[in-house]
Amino acid sequence: MSVHKEVKRVTTHTLQAMKARGEKISMLTGYDFSMARILDEAGIDVILVGDSASNVMAGHETTLPITLDQMIYHAQSVVRGVKRALVIVDLPFGSYQGNSKLALQSAIRIMKESGAHAVKMEGGHEIQESIKRILSAGIPVMGHLGLVPQSIYKFGTYTVRAKEEVEAEQLRNDAKLLQELGCFGMVLEKIPAKLTKEVSESLLIPTIGIGAGMHADGQVLVTHDLLGITKDFQPRFLRRYMNLFEDIKTAVQSYVNDVKIKDFPNQKEQY
Ligand code: KIV
Repeated sequence: MSVHKEVKRVTTHTLQAMKARGEKISMLTGYDFSMARILDEAGIDVILVGDSASNVMAGHETTLPITLDQMIYHAQSVVRGVKRALVIVDLPFGSYQGNSKLALQSAIRIMKESGAHAVKMEGGHEIQESIKRILSAGIPVMGHLGLVPQSIYKFGTYTVRAKEEVEAEQLRNDAKLLQELGCFGMVLEKIPAKLTKEVSESLLIPTIGIGAGMHADGQVLVTHDLLGITKDFQPRFLRRYMNLFEDIKTAVQSYVNDVKIKDFPNQKEQY
């Protein structure tokens, strides 16, 4: 008989049950095997293979350049490191907008080739045909409203969205539409806390906020921001739990020094 306890996997249904009983959902981004293992062992509910990999892993200024193949590579690595968390993968820019057949092909590739559990897509009414077609294939979809970074060149800046009533009303309608279409949840990025409260209370499916205040049903951050690896990114909504950029730099400086002064390796560190 095995002494190991079976790990109960988080599913899209788990997240909806969590919302129903008022339990907050924790979500962080992950792009590789080693970090995914740590996040999963730490008890994170959801790992998002975000297209923010384009920024933090590849060094691009925006999320636009990352490709579907690159997202699949990151997703495969994350899935190999996870036993419990739900793994959601961003459909990258250009893989779903304006073409629902292409959207379905892209989502199927992600699910088949990576073993992830769901996809996330940015936008509301304007991408509803793509969402419908992906859902019709049995692939769970998470929405993403508010600041949608794949449209950064339309917005012009990364400032708070939906402060004006016209945009807030559009967001309310889009949130309702995403639920009606069958999305299992949605990210709300950088919108006023009051609007997040209103939208979250009006929906049965969970909202996951980033820069959207305390009333979302869950929270997501980019892991590299939380750990202080991306040291120059310091928006008001970000809580840093570590200062890893400096800590890693100090460790590497010590290593360089030890090699230079011939202290590493010592007698005990050789064969
Ligand atoms: O790509 C990403 O990391 C995201 C989160 C910021 C929600 O979409």
